[in-house]
Amino acid sequence: MALPNVNPTTTASWKKLMHHFTDAQHLKMKDLFAEDTARADKFTINWDDFYVDFSKNRITEETFKYLLQLADEVKLKEAIESQFSGEKINKTEGRAVLHTALRAPETATVIVDGANVIPEVYKVKRKIETFTNQVVNGDRKGYTGKTFTHVVNIGIGGSDLGPAMVVDALQFYKNHLTTLFVSNVDGDHVNEVIKKLNPETTLFVIVSKTFTTQETISNANTIKSWFLESASENDIAKHFVAVSTNLDAVKSFGVDANNVFPMWDWVGGRFSLWSAVGLSISLALGYSNYASLLEGAHKMDVHFKTADFDKNIPVVLGLISIWYNNFFKAESEAVIPYSQYLNQFATYLQQGIMESNGKSVDRNGDAIDYETGTLIWGEPGTNSQHAFFQLIHQGTKLIPADFIGFVKSLHGNQDHQDKLISNYLAQTEALLNGKTKAEVIEEGTLDTIVPFKVFEGNKPTNTIFINKLTPESLGKLIAMYEHKIYVQGIIWNIFSYDQFGVELGKQLASKILKEFSGEAKNQHDNSTSNLLKYYKQNS
Ligand code: F6P
Repeated sequence: MALPNVNPTTTASWKKLMHHFTDAQHLKMKDLFAEDTARADKFTINWDDFYVDFSKNRITEETFKYLLQLADEVKLKEAIESQFSGEKINKTEGRAVLHTALRAPETATVIVDGANVIPEVYKVKRKIETFTNQVVNGDRKGYTGKTFTHVVNIGIGGSDLGPAMVVDALQFYKNHLTTLFVSNVDGDHVNEVIKKLNPETTLFVIVSKTFTTQETISNANTIKSWFLESASENDIAKHFVAVSTNLDAVKSFGVDANNVFPMWDWVGGRFSLWSAVGLSISLALGYSNYASLLEGAHKMDVHFKTADFDKNIPVVLGLISIWYNNFFKAESEAVIPYSQYLNQFATYLQQGIMESNGKSVDRNGDAIDYETGTLIWGEPGTNSQHAFFQLIHQGTKLIPADFIGFVKSLHGNQDHQDKLISNYLAQTEALLNGKTKAEVIEEGTLDTIVPFKVFEGNKPTNTIFINKLTPESLGKLIAMYEHKIYVQGIIWNIFSYDQFGVELGKQLASKILKEFSGEAKNQHDNSTSNLLKYYKQNS
């Protein structure tokens, strides 16, 4: 069964939303709260250790009703079923999309091309577990007999961002291994990492689904050459392991066949941390924490698959985002975690969200005449309050924001935690209420200064309050955003799981590279020709 194929703008609910928007665009959330003292109870989802309050949005019960109807009209329920059951919903690449199968229980059955993939998934998990234990316990040793102290993940995009974000976010749960990440083809990146390493005690994990990615292969080769300055070819097998679907390429790089962790074409790069791509996570945190991360994601999968849409967190967040993106024409969304641990979270989400839904052609291959995709950005609070919050509060742009917070701190410093959470709650309250002219005057402000101190308010936020940052709750949070991506892709009638838009730049870069070595001569526009000349003359 193919994915449903419905142009959202032709649905009855879209038309109702359009009509409703003419009035709803003037809604003042402050009035909505004054009119209905139980508003937050209606627009809150309390699920497991998640408390998701979406009442501070420019929506009424009528808006919510039409948005839910839209989800029904584009056949979201069927689309969710198609994804989970292993149908080849990534039609342009002829693949199933099964990151959910990677965190399913061993008893599950998910059929791809006539075979259940779950036994193979668990075979690889066991291999990850055994390998992790050997490295962490010190049973596996380097070429001079020393135990490993450092792990370096060599990968880019989905083969870097997920593991790097999770290892950083869960550093509280980390073991003694120092985990570093090399991604950029910028040679200064790899050299700065190499500076910190001893070849005798470092394990390298090369992660590349295709094993053809320029950045990763260049970095792996540079590191191999550096390694061979002190070790021999035979020692490579002890220090280099690989995660890939391209087993031949891995072998010719010199990785021992026993040290290859397979993945499958039905795992998209940006959704791959749940596969062996997460090996560095397992090594850094220990296998049981890695398993808890997957368990959390699975719980969110079950919620997404089974909860009614009006109580379904990824569905509701996806619909609200559509409301702002397509009706208010908001161009971006901010994600503000009130946890320094989630420092890399927005960067991670940028690939997931923008590589998936940055599309301008619908599922028929026709050009789209409505907005898709959202620009996603953010930084942890409270730091961001002292950086870009001025623009959110008083700028001209509408920036809906997700505020993510944790009730409990990990180190248990209650004084800091109270200060952090007071800021977390105060900001969404300030964004909702703003400050009126009368309030500013009452503060005794000089007449000439009054307009500058008025806050319009009415700025929408979702508050995602989670009990505590644990491997399990982080798994839930990541999966929540993954599913939100799919909800939006289905509504926009696009294919979320290909990324052809990243190819053109790669092709041109390899052509230009050949010009540097004199192997080719290409025609360029005047600007690019001048820039090339400038580089050649000055490099
Ligand atoms: O350039 C984009 C991309 O294809 C991503 O989708 C992917 O996560 C990344 O490159 C890395 O790809 P690979 O794992 O094959 O090296």
